[in-house]
Amino acid sequence: MRPMAYHILDHPLVRCLLSRLRNRDTQPSEFRLLVAQITTFLGIEATKDLALQAITVHTPISATQGHQLKNSIAIVPVLRAGLGMAEPLFDLLPQAAVRHVGLFRDESSLLPVTYYQKLPRTPAELALVVDPMLATGGTAIATITMMKEWGVADIRFLGILGAPEGLAALQQAHPEVPIFLAALDEKLNELGYIVPGLGDAGDRQYHTTSA
Ligand code: URA
Repeated sequence: MRPMAYHILDHPLVRCLLSRLRNRDTQPSEFRLLVAQITTFLGIEATKDLALQAITVHTPISATQGHQLKNSIAIVPVLRAGLGMAEPLFDLLPQAAVRHVGLFRDESSLLPVTYYQKLPRTPAELALVVDPMLATGGTAIATITMMKEWGVADIRFLGILGAPEGLAALQQAHPEVPIFLAALDEKLNELGYIVPGLGDAGDRQYHTTSA
């Protein structure tokens, strides 16, 4: 199956926001704000084609036709770095449910291991999987596999920065899943960081250090 085209945001405001996000001197409070602002652009792009159903709205003047989203939505942030993307999406999609998932990378196998997952029996019709950094792609691939096992028919991935290696791996594993990124960077370094990237997205949001 040929992979779905991926989407890179093409907007001057996003380029300016990204430049401030990448800057090593940007402090956590501003960093979180920038993550939220960029995610709003991603959310608008990723939901452009959602199905609507007609409703009647009563304005103070008359009745008119309005719309509401047709399908149930889950926003799925991957702990911990995805948390900062969940809130702005929740603001855009207040009727969605937020379903947190936690994965870490096993030191010896280097494979993602799920440590938190709490999903109800009935799957959402659309899942928006959010993780700011699409690096090797391992976490995104495992989370999307989890969404498929849950029974979600329409799954979309939203990230801020991607590495070509992670993008290719995700497209190969889940070719039907659309991928939305604010930028596609050059490469991964030997430590698995995106270059030029922005460093550790979790640490930069939450004022922690990995060392
Ligand atoms: N995760 C991060 O937080 N940053 C990277 O560059 C790669 C993975």
